[in-house]
Amino acid sequence: MPKAAEEHKKDAVYKQAKRKGYRARSAFKLLDLQKRFNIFKRSFYILDLGSTPGSWLQVAKKFAEKNLLKYNDKYYHRDHYKIMGIDIKRITPIENINTIRMDFTTPEFQIEVKKYFEGEKLDLILSDASIKKSGNKFSDQAMQIKLCYKILELTKFLKFKGNFVIKVFQGADYDDFYKKMKQKFSIVKSLKPKSSNKKSNEIYLIGLKKK
Ligand SMILES: C[S@@+](CC[C@H](N)C(=O)[O-])C[C@H]1O[C@@H](n2cnc3c(N)ncnc32)[C@H](O)[C@@H]1O
Repeated sequence: MPKAAEEHKKDAVYKQAKRKGYRARSAFKLLDLQKRFNIFKRSFYILDLGSTPGSWLQVAKKFAEKNLLKYNDKYYHRDHYKIMGIDIKRITPIENINTIRMDFTTPEFQIEVKKYFEGEKLDLILSDASIKKSGNKFSDQAMQIKLCYKILELTKFLKFKGNFVIKVFQGADYDDFYKKMKQKFSIVKSLKPKSSNKKSNEIYLIGLKKK
């Protein structure tokens, strides 16, 4: 897509996000992921890594609230939801969501997770976290993969059969990371959401049914 057309698309999606009350265009990426993989099915305990400005948290809250009514049956359900969002940058608070400002690669963060969810396992972990890009595709990709391995460690907080979404950059080491995901999840899929910039090498990996 020519640069001007790409910019126009970005602008149009941005305006659409604002109209719908979302804090960022990224909301549509998560909605695309939901449409394809139904990741929010029976999700009540949700952790969102790298949340600022908070549009994924807004989407997560919408589905968690729906789930309270939709899945009030004899199968796995809860009468409340818990959502935690974390970022190194400030997250403008959202009602009924626990937002914290912290580096999620630190041991202190893991203590916070255990405290907030009271030691219970999570239904869904989302990560749209991304390193600060330098513009050098090779080193950026290497740094992002390094971050992704740290994020993957946090899937120890997921319940058996829990779901996981993570943003990775395609390039060297991508295949190895994909294989690592395969070891942890019964099903691994990838998706480049429609709303994602065509030129960027970002792609989302979806781990379904944690082993
Ligand atoms: C693309 S933004 C997320 C956008 C968000 N999903 C939304 O919809 O509003 C990526 C975020 O990851 C955060 N991040 C990257 N590494 C992090 C880390 N180690 N700890 C906490 N946040 C981190 C960045 O600060 C940045 O705000």
